[in-house]
Amino acid sequence: MIKAIKGTKDIYAPEIFEWQEFENVIISVFENFNYDEIRTPIFEETSLFARGIGEGTDIVGKEMYTFTDKGGTSLTLKPEMTASVMRAVLEHSLHKVRPLNKFYYISPMFRQERPQAGRLRQFHQFGAEAIGSDDPYLDAEMIIIPYVILVNLGLSNFKVKINTLGSPNERKEYKLVLRNYLQPKLNELSPESRRRFETNILRIFDSKDKHDIEIMKDAPKISDYVSDEDSKHIEQVCSILDSFQIEYEIDGKLVRGLDYYTKTTFEITSNSVGAQSALVGGGRYNLLSTQLGGPEIPAVGFAAGMERILLALSNEKIKIADKKKIDAYVIVAEKQFRQIAYVLSLMLRMSDVITETDYVGKSVKAQMREANKLNAEYTLIVGQETKEGNVILKNMENGNQKVFSLDDIEELINEIILGEYNPDELEELPPDEYIN
Ligand code: HAM
Repeated sequence: MIKAIKGTKDIYAPEIFEWQEFENVIISVFENFNYDEIRTPIFEETSLFARGIGEGTDIVGKEMYTFTDKGGTSLTLKPEMTASVMRAVLEHSLHKVRPLNKFYYISPMFRQERPQAGRLRQFHQFGAEAIGSDDPYLDAEMIIIPYVILVNLGLSNFKVKINTLGSPNERKEYKLVLRNYLQPKLNELSPESRRRFETNILRIFDSKDKHDIEIMKDAPKISDYVSDEDSKHIEQVCSILDSFQIEYEIDGKLVRGLDYYTKTTFEITSNSVGAQSALVGGGRYNLLSTQLGGPEIPAVGFAAGMERILLALSNEKIKIADKKKIDAYVIVAEKQFRQIAYVLSLMLRMSDVITETDYVGKSVKAQMREANKLNAEYTLIVGQETKEGNVILKNMENGNQKVFSLDDIEELINEIILGEYNPDELEELPPDEYIN
């Protein structure tokens, strides 16, 4: 048997209902913030990610799915969206059409990491990129949007962490300071951190090695080396979050794994998902445009891992999708009326009535069971009565049955859409319920 590739996943019912509801929540929040969707190709020229994300990063160095096509071009399955969105803006000169482009996306991404809970090789991100402004309100918005989405989903067990990485000049100076601090301790560092000392020294802050963590505790903080202007920028971001009562923690060790960041960086982490705790990551990347050969365009964005958020929901026992429910199930009680039953189903479906019928020759009893399983509000029985041109409509909640003529399908459809008038229900209400 051929199986799906390790680290990839098939998503189907009932899990798919959670995904669909998740996507509805995401889209409605982005619409409220007036972001437009962008869809970019699944693969790009490898150099886009190498230049954008940075040669020294884990993503570019170890994790990309790269292949050469028949024309000899090196292509890579997208490991993230920021570089692609910036490429699209520059390629179509969108920055000349509008000073600020606000895009959102929901898309699969590909990274060849070691699969574990919350870490896949094909995973899904939703995210946003606001390209064309250095406004700290947008930095704050990139934290507020995922925050609102997580809250709307019902999550609460998460934490916002913020840092600033300043601008390249100060960062260069800071890297020297960090080098000087680490040089005498180099032999005590883990082999991975010793490698990072040469390739990407800031990433030593991300080491999970206990001894490395101990050493990095006393390391100089980048926030002490950023310019006054950049300090003011992050203070403004914090003050905007304060005014929306979003709690956050300043984390001087938050360096992020991609090279394009300047100024604000942030992550939202969860206590409900184990080792892979980062649900959201993002920040400002004012130099990415020039790195890709474009003009200077300030930009900021975030991306969130959908599998990790679904894992957090599941671990916190939060269900976001309702149980599957249909409006009507058309029961074929006499085989000779199968076609009438099918045409009836089609007419209901054309009238926006969610309808199922039998396709596998089940007994009437089994069809009834199926209707119950699907939580059908009504069943329509096409059988004996159909000889006289009638069908029976049964309300599955109260068991009431009514005969309808096939000559008056409209009345039947209205009954299903508008619901039955049931005088018994009114009498059971306490008097003050219907005074007004
Ligand atoms: P990132 O931190 O690499 O940032 O990824 C963002 C989120 O994607 C992570 O916090 C995590 O939830 C999820 N994620 C990453 N790798 C995996 C994986 N292998 N399996 C499952 N989930 C994963 C970026 O991608 C940047 N493009 C974010 C950004 C947008 N910065 C500015 N704009």
